[in-house]
Amino acid sequence: MLLIDGIVQSFLALVHDLIERSPFFAEWEPGRVDSAKAERFLVTFDSLVRSFPSLIALGAARADNEDMRVVLATNLYQESGEGDLRRTHHAIFRKFLITARIDPEAGTEQAFTKEWRSSLMDYIDSQPGSLSALGVLAAGEFLAQPALTRIFAVIRPLYPDADVEYFTTHLELEADHVQEIADFIARQLARGGSAHDLFSGFRFGIGQWENYFDRIYEYVFVDNNLGYGPVPYGMPSGCVQGD
Ligand SMILES: [Fe+2]
Repeated sequence: MLLIDGIVQSFLALVHDLIERSPFFAEWEPGRVDSAKAERFLVTFDSLVRSFPSLIALGAARADNEDMRVVLATNLYQESGEGDLRRTHHAIFRKFLITARIDPEAGTEQAFTKEWRSSLMDYIDSQPGSLSALGVLAAGEFLAQPALTRIFAVIRPLYPDADVEYFTTHLELEADHVQEIADFIARQLARGGSAHDLFSGFRFGIGQWENYFDRIYEYVFVDNNLGYGPVPYGMPSGCVQGD
């Protein structure tokens, strides 16, 4: 097996493990998420989607070679709608919200979203090795498709008339990003790049994403569950089955 194939497999395994142990993803089963919870998630997620270009731009600023800069600049250009403000990926996400009749301005940015963004930006900005910065960004890219595919399977029937391009064509583009990043990693390691830096960045990124999902799980599914807990309606709280 080529070195890069082993690295990609390791990245995919780290992403898979996060999704499997995450209480947030355990909730995303068909029929388990009502539209109120889905809306709370989608409105909260909006400010995260809006943050991606800044993170990619910072990664491009940290590139110490043209190859990495071009890969990330191309990624940023695509994320920016290839120059069309109406086609930025955030605009495509907002198109979903609006056609789903969800007000994107219905909520303010949550503190945990700010913490997620600043932790990633601080890391990208501070690590000496550029492959650490790339590793952090790779974590988000590798996570995008499995995470959003799982969520989309539940969301789609809730909003049958919505424009779902963000979750379909856009996600296919994200798969291209994953391939472009993997190809770059292969070239950079062949030039003597540090696999240690790369994995440090990737693991840090996965850790920050897990923090984010744990917090949004509490916000959407726990705090929001008041009155909708597992206790059947009409049964006094504190009772358990069999009482
Ligand atoms: Fe995107």
